Amino acid sequence: MRRGSILQLVGLGILFGAIATLVALLIPWLPPVASKQRDRIDLVFWVTTGICIAVFAFVAAVIAYSLLKFRVRPDDDSDGPPIHGHTGIEIVWTAVPAILVAAISVVSAVVLVQNDAAGKNHMNVNVTARQFAWTFSYPDEGQLTSAQLRLPLDRAVELHLRALDVIHSFWVPEFGQKSDAVPGQDTTLVITPTKLGTYPVICTELCGLGHALMRTSAIVMEPGAFAAWVKEQKTVAAAPPGQAGQAVFASNGCGSCHTLKAAGTTGTAGPDLDKLPAYAKQAGKPLEDFIRESIVDPNAYVQPGFPKGLMPPFSTLPQDQLDSLVTYLVESSKGGGK
Ligand code: CUA
Repeated sequence: MRRGSILQLVGLGILFGAIATLVALLIPWLPPVASKQRDRIDLVFWVTTGICIAVFAFVAAVIAYSLLKFRVRPDDDSDGPPIHGHTGIEIVWTAVPAILVAAISVVSAVVLVQNDAAGKNHMNVNVTARQFAWTFSYPDEGQLTSAQLRLPLDRAVELHLRALDVIHSFWVPEFGQKSDAVPGQDTTLVITPTKLGTYPVICTELCGLGHALMRTSAIVMEPGAFAAWVKEQKTVAAAPPGQAGQAVFASNGCGSCHTLKAAGTTGTAGPDLDKLPAYAKQAGKPLEDFIRESIVDPNAYVQPGFPKGLMPPFSTLPQDQLDSLVTYLVESSKGGGK
């Protein structure tokens, strides 16, 4: 091979490598980074992308060079020279990919181990997934519950995922970490938030009619603000039934499907809860019984115009929470949604 040819090949390789590098760097392919684990996951992405760019540059350079140099002449109908095997090249094209894939595996394995380690001073949050809502409870704070995942900045949290009905999957793109919530199996996920802000919590496993609605927010707060929120929530939980009911309504994500003026929610997937007295009349049941039944056994009576089976039974609500929720809904709907 002539020296000029090698220089041309190298030049083409640098050209294609530069184009691919610009495409990788200039387009924001990934969401902003908001956790330590995402930093590590991005490292795996970049190592892999770097290897891909090198392979692409090499292959594209050889193809472009061959197209330019060995193109068949218009009047040339002859066959090319017969070639059979080349042990040296075969060893190289087996060994090089094997080494590259092994390198990616090693980096990935190290990152997986690091991302699974919560450390000693971590906080626990139980994540409950059900069709079609997320509930977060804080066992270290006396089982405080919330419909949003609130986390203090720079502290590792271990999420314990549970599913009550079918398989769901917990994902916050900015945190990187992702895991399925499987019925009958506890899975864990470690997150150390590194950036204040509000991020989407997305269910990424098709789990039924309301799958696309199964979203909430993860809110990363200053540790002081988080402590203040915990304190405030504990006060609310100890409040009279009306207010406690509002907290149960909020923490179970009822508002993502239902409109209720008293709670300031505007969901439309399920019936408008300000019209509960009218619906109870239609169903021919006393208001309070009707509300209670509709929460624990939603298919007993389905308001015409809404699909049967969309609302999951909230039969696992603790009795006191169910009572305060029923009281709250009776009072808010009787008030005509004032
Ligand atoms: Cu839960 Cu999709």
